[in-house]
Amino acid sequence: MKRSVITTGDGSTSLKIDAWDEPYHSRHGALQESQHVFIREGLAQVDAPKVAILELGFGTGLNALLSYDFAKANSKIIEYYGVEAFPLTPAEVSEMNYTELLADEGLIKIFTKLHLTQPGVWTTIDSFFSLKNVEKRFEELQETKKFDLIYHDAFSPKLQPELWDEKAFEKGFSLLRSGGKLVTYSAKGSVRRAMESVGFVVEKVPGPPGKREMIRATKG
Ligand SMILES: C[S@@+](CC[C@H](N)C(=O)[O-])C[C@H]1O[C@@H](n2cnc3c(N)ncnc32)[C@H](O)[C@@H]1O
Repeated sequence: MKRSVITTGDGSTSLKIDAWDEPYHSRHGALQESQHVFIREGLAQVDAPKVAILELGFGTGLNALLSYDFAKANSKIIEYYGVEAFPLTPAEVSEMNYTELLADEGLIKIFTKLHLTQPGVWTTIDSFFSLKNVEKRFEELQETKKFDLIYHDAFSPKLQPELWDEKAFEKGFSLLRSGGKLVTYSAKGSVRRAMESVGFVVEKVPGPPGKREMIRATKG
């Protein structure tokens, strides 16, 4: 599917699926949305020195970059497992401006490294951050590793209902350790009900600018 580069409200770039007119991030701001949904309301809420994260939809790598930055500032050890069915091309990656906006020269090298790993292989990005990117559909993923946190960042429930139904959340639930959390930008009633029906305890928390609420779900 054809994609174009867009600039969102906070000046950060993102991509858009042209045929769906669907952006990868909030049009109000990609960077501020990721910081809020996945870092502040996700990673920062996990009280453990070592955190295994699974991301559904690695995409631009923005969530991985911000997780790296958080881990560095907060002395966390991260194992980051990205699942992506349609990886970005090198040309698309080169158009993402996150490292310019984050104004930390060290992150330029890290962002490049995040996109140069061999698919399916654990790669050391830094002493405290390792990454494995798997190029497949989440629906086809067969994984026995357990995670502390899932970044559920698929396209919207309207466009990808198969990634927001009971079957998808059952899979997410089984990939989490007891006490593990799943965060996502959606707060839709049908999404919340699907999560609850597979055993998640669901909280609605304030969303990023432009969005009233988002969901954080916990495996009790
Ligand atoms: C809303 S975008 C978010 C991307 C990414 N988290 C980011 O910050 O750039 C959704 C991502 O999910 C990927 N995707 C779509 N369907 C998928 C599937 N069935 N399995 C895995 N990834 C999928 C898309 O290619 C896209 O990268």
